[in-house]
Amino acid sequence: MQTLNTTSLKIVDNQLWILDQQALPQEKRWCPCPDVTSLVEHIQTLRVRGAPLIGLSASLLLALLAEKGLSQAELAQALETLRASRPTAVNLMNNLDRMKLALAQPQFVAALAQEAQRLVEEDRALCERIADHGTTLVKPNSRLLTHCNTGGLATAGIGTAIGVLLRAHQQGKVEQVWVDETRPLLQGGRLTAWELGELGIPYQLICDSMAASLMAQGQVDAIWVGADRIAANGDVANKIGTYSLAVLAHYHQIPFYVAAPHTTLDPACPHGRSIPIEQRAAAEVTGVSGSFGNCQWAPQNAAVYNPAFDVTPAELISGWVLDTGVVTPQDVQEGIFQTALK
Ligand code: MRU
Repeated sequence: MQTLNTTSLKIVDNQLWILDQQALPQEKRWCPCPDVTSLVEHIQTLRVRGAPLIGLSASLLLALLAEKGLSQAELAQALETLRASRPTAVNLMNNLDRMKLALAQPQFVAALAQEAQRLVEEDRALCERIADHGTTLVKPNSRLLTHCNTGGLATAGIGTAIGVLLRAHQQGKVEQVWVDETRPLLQGGRLTAWELGELGIPYQLICDSMAASLMAQGQVDAIWVGADRIAANGDVANKIGTYSLAVLAHYHQIPFYVAAPHTTLDPACPHGRSIPIEQRAAAEVTGVSGSFGNCQWAPQNAAVYNPAFDVTPAELISGWVLDTGVVTPQDVQEGIFQTALK
């Protein structure tokens, strides 16, 4: 396969490497990814994370394994193992459905390589188009709040919600970005803060619980988040804490936008209640660990509830900003997502 270089995935000498997003920003560490077991582990520990990137990494690995000589049956098994690695982000399933079609072809080795490369190229282009559409909604001198991490680390391109922030910043419209730290795994505090710094976008980091008082003080002009799955009725699963931001935005009459590629749509999923929500280990809530060290603050054996995502109902969303354009609440009521991928 051709050499590939994105912010957090690369292929060198026919080997997939992933940038360890658990080690950032303290350390820029690349991990080899020679087989399905290693990628599943990287995905489940969130070294590889972000809905689009999960799907792309799985697709690229399959193509590389085909080139290494795995049989069609072995690749089919690998595909299903990868599909089950994280349940909520539907980009993984959507990408793997396309890889499955390539795998069924007689020239499957070439077909898989071509399809994986196409998915990467498409994702880059989708990010650009999301940014083009999203920036039309950003007003001059905006103070924008974002949650989790939706940038170049989570995609093959400039990102989804962060891509919009970048484009709007390049157009001189962003006064500053409020970055939610995003408990429990701190994708905002570690990754978004780092990315915005690298991009030169002015930001201030806040604890998740500070968003309400900022909104009450009139210091937030709009909220921009990504998505892990968009159901047919417009409900959106995204990183835990997104729903509370949407409720707060509604109360304070602040626009709440979701930016995502069409690979995040799941027309077969009727509503948010049908979206599987990943439950994660207690240790993520009882303390914190990373390349900065480990620390537990809760009592040993504290009982913990740790869903990785929540669902924001469609009625709280002001606009779904896709690569295909801005979808309005009225479009959603008219059933635009039910037919989106048909
Ligand atoms: O658990 P994570 O870090 O993979 O969760 C990521 C998010 O919730 C993102 O907002 C979403 O995947 C979109 S990334 C472009």
